[in-house]
Amino acid sequence: MNIRTKRLLLRPLKLSDAPDIQRLAGDRDVASTTRNIEHPYEDGMAENWIKSCQEKIDAGDLVNFAVAHQADGSFLGVIGLHLDEDKRSGELGYWIGKPFWNQGYATEAVEAVIKHSFNKLELDRVYAAHFTRNPSSGRVMQKAGMLHEGFLKGHTEKCGKLEDLELYGVTPEQFETPPSTES
Ligand SMILES: CC(C)(COP(=O)(O)OP(=O)(O)OC[C@H]1O[C@@H](n2cnc3c(N)ncnc32)[C@H](O)[C@@H]1OP(=O)(O)O)[C@@H](O)C(=O)NCCC(=O)NCCS
Repeated sequence: MNIRTKRLLLRPLKLSDAPDIQRLAGDRDVASTTRNIEHPYEDGMAENWIKSCQEKIDAGDLVNFAVAHQADGSFLGVIGLHLDEDKRSGELGYWIGKPFWNQGYATEAVEAVIKHSFNKLELDRVYAAHFTRNPSSGRVMQKAGMLHEGFLKGHTEKCGKLEDLELYGVTPEQFETPPSTES
């Protein structure tokens, strides 16, 4: 399904998105602060990743979207919600291509997916984590209405280095709807 916000179209990923994903997620600065994007981003990795997502979507374990600009359809990034086993809660992950940073796109996408999670998927909780050294993702979570819940010292390994994590979450009751971005 599609979600429209003020400026964005969140739509299903297509195999034809692979070159955009390889180009944008292939930037070291995008890979560096994500838990799962490898660097360098080799040929074929994007296609394999899109196919692996489709299997999880089909199994009901994942809801994810290409983040595209409504005005011209340009591909900006990806946002996904990994559902927990009981399907009552899910973990958000997202990235936006570097040329499009600091224009509010991640915030707009995260807010829309949280609303979708509560209003359509009827989840009880949405949560996310970012590396402590990546405060801009923390700002996104705060601006989208998520609340800081904790800190995990050296919890995740990335490129052979232990990373500290900041944890955020929100329930429907806590979710104070900011000015609407859904049209
Ligand atoms: C994190 C990321 C998704 C943010 O996307 P974005 O579209 O630029 O986010 P937004 O424009 O909605 O918001 C960014 C906020 O961070 C702030 N920010 C940017 N750099 C910052 C820094 N070094 N320290 C603190 N805040 C910073 C911006 O000022 C903005 O906040 P503001 O609106 O209050 O001014 C993007 O940088 C990205 O994809 N990074 C690589 C992948 C990644 O880290 N994904 C998240 C994994 S948890």
